[in-house]
Amino acid sequence: MSEHFRVQGGARLVGEVSVVGAKNSVLKLMAAALLAEGTTTLTNCPEILDVPLMADVLRGLGCEVSIDHDEVTIVSPAMPNHRADFASMSKLRASVCVLGPLVARCRKAVVALPGGDAIGSRPLDMHQNGLRQLGATTGIEHGCVVAEAENLTGAQIWLDFPSVGATENILMAAVLADGTTVIDNAAREPEIIDICVMLQQMGAKIEGAGTSTLTVHGVQSLQPTEHRVIGDRIVGATWALAAAMTRGDITVLGVDPGHLNLVLEKLRTAGAEVTTVEQPRQGFRVVMDGRPKAVDFVTLPYPGFATDNQPFAVALAAVAEGTSMITENVFEARFRFVEEMMRMGADARTDGHHCVVRGVEKLSGAPVWASDIRAGAGLVLAGLCAEGVTEVWDVFHIDRGYPQFIENLQRLGADVQRVSAPPER
Ligand code: UD1
Repeated sequence: MSEHFRVQGGARLVGEVSVVGAKNSVLKLMAAALLAEGTTTLTNCPEILDVPLMADVLRGLGCEVSIDHDEVTIVSPAMPNHRADFASMSKLRASVCVLGPLVARCRKAVVALPGGDAIGSRPLDMHQNGLRQLGATTGIEHGCVVAEAENLTGAQIWLDFPSVGATENILMAAVLADGTTVIDNAAREPEIIDICVMLQQMGAKIEGAGTSTLTVHGVQSLQPTEHRVIGDRIVGATWALAAAMTRGDITVLGVDPGHLNLVLEKLRTAGAEVTTVEQPRQGFRVVMDGRPKAVDFVTLPYPGFATDNQPFAVALAAVAEGTSMITENVFEARFRFVEEMMRMGADARTDGHHCVVRGVEKLSGAPVWASDIRAGAGLVLAGLCAEGVTEVWDVFHIDRGYPQFIENLQRLGADVQRVSAPPER
């Protein structure tokens, strides 16, 4: 039975919401467990579908994986199986991050090309080039990336673009290579710092985490560890934008506000009052009294405005006072959802990398279809500000990224339900 979210617009969201570990971190940390024989434990893991899917990928490689609420335990074998099959890999994009650890541990990897969100072409050329520079041969054969190396040797690697996935794969291969690897133009996302912290706890020698030059001194072997996953800054941003759009008052806990500097600054420009909450319950509070003012957004690798937050920026612009320009620089097909928002009365035009949005006083509820996780969440945000009922279909996308989404929205005062019924189109 297909499910949708039924969103009755109009409520002002007020209250406190806790954010758990980042989807885009936990999946890579699970893959990193392949690098050391023995038991790795991850805590603060989000209870989302992608975690059991990644667990299946690891089981196929010979690991024992158990999931107990927010704790994931992975027992990695002395020698993992080097083949990750299509059945499990095709279900999530992040599964490609087993490539680096497998090459490092087994000196061979056959990894089916992954599935994932429909947000544009997602080539693996930088992942492969990096592995080649470390001494591996790689190519695509029968729908799989095949990589092989007798020895991995440290190298100087310049990335054409600070790709998150390529940085992670090359890093996870380099930690067990002979000698020193320097990755220049590396991604600087907080999730990269998180994986570096975990690898360091495992015995890896890494310098420059969080900067665009990562220096890795290879070691012979790594030990398993216990690690707490960092809070999800994209989920945090979703709640921040929800507060601003519904003229609400939300305190978001469990995420480092420093990871959302640009998002919070944009919301201040839009008219929100933003304060940060200090340790131990780290987070921030967003209060908005009037209608948000139009703000421009440009997506870029971190510390730029995250491409994952772009649908929320379009949703904000759709109800803001004035005209906003949103520029997408990371994924070429990430404006697909805009058509759905236009169904709700958004006055938006896209042209290549740009989307011009003239804010309207009120959107109007309509049936809409989520094309990926963040697009789906953006449509829910728009529905919260629409007159009448919005039905958001294909919510399995949203479930992949947002633990307890409906329950959290309800706690904040939104009139939303998960409904099981066939679509009427
Ligand atoms: C990760 C995140 C995703 C986020 C993105 C950018 C996960 C599971 N996903 O995706 O949510 O939107 O970072 O912050 O962590 N590219 C190439 N060749 C390559 C690799 C990438 O051309 O070999 C291009 C991509 O097509 C894209 C850009 O580089 O245009 C950025 O991609 P990348 O940073 O690699 O994103 P992902 O790691 O796939």
